[in-house]
Amino acid sequence: MSHPSLVTEDLTIRFGGHVAVNSVSCEFRPGELTVIVGPNGAGKTTYFNLISGQLPVSEGRVLKDGIEITKMPPSARAHHGIGRAFQLTNLFPKLTVLENIRLAVQAHSGQSWKIMTRVDSLTELTAKAERYLEATKLGNVAHLPATALPHGDQRKLEVALLMAMEPDIYMFDEPTAGMSLDHAPDVLDLIAELKHDHSKTILLVEHKMDVVRALADRIIVLHNGALIADGAPDEVMSSQIVRDVYLGKSTEAA
Ligand SMILES: Nc1ncnc2c1ncn2[C@@H]1O[C@H](COP(=O)(O)OP(=O)(O)OP(=O)(O)O)[C@@H](O)[C@H]1O
Ligand SMILES: [Mg+2]
Repeated sequence: MSHPSLVTEDLTIRFGGHVAVNSVSCEFRPGELTVIVGPNGAGKTTYFNLISGQLPVSEGRVLKDGIEITKMPPSARAHHGIGRAFQLTNLFPKLTVLENIRLAVQAHSGQSWKIMTRVDSLTELTAKAERYLEATKLGNVAHLPATALPHGDQRKLEVALLMAMEPDIYMFDEPTAGMSLDHAPDVLDLIAELKHDHSKTILLVEHKMDVVRALADRIIVLHNGALIADGAPDEVMSSQIVRDVYLGKSTEAA
């Protein structure tokens, strides 16, 4: 089995007296898509925030390829390969979809603006950006201002921007939330395609059980901030503890 790319050790955060993430120890490996499930308020998003650095830990550690990143700001963690979906508020609203992706490619390549004035470098960046555009099937809206996109395409753009950063760890928090049924499959197909690159580790928070079943190599369950189950999808979903805390809710939601 490959070495874990991402490890959380006793990861904990308290908000006042409330323990939102409670001593979660877990390892994630390349080539594995782990779906994180659990009821509302279980701590899933907070766990992501601790991994990507949006929140400071109260206790515990986060390791990326064996390097401790616990105290690093989000930008440094991104540099170490932690890929949290872009907030679309980070977009340049007047620039086109293609230009926004190209900026993300450029930010990742770390090249200076001065070098970028060279036509050949710009062409290379554009070629890369177009590849992500094509992979995310946004070619037909490439020249629209990014903020003019319908909701479903904005989610695809988030994935394109994330791909442009070439992270080792992809983190998706309910990527189809608020999306119409006809657009949801596009984004899920993109995530499924990411699995073809076996060097990537994918973490996905998802409520919809058909999505979970289709994509998960492994499921972990959070409940009241604690990790209560971890294993193969069938095994986890049929376990009594998960039926008790989770399936009741998902049946209601279905
Ligand atoms: N910044 C914060 N300050 C105080 N409490 C917080 C903060 N962020 C999260 N919490 C609390 O931590 C708990 C876990 O919240 P979190 O958003 O991680 O749950 P979740 O599993 O993502 O739920 P959902 O399925 O609804 O997205 C909740 O009780 C929430 O109110
Ligand atoms: Mg959440």
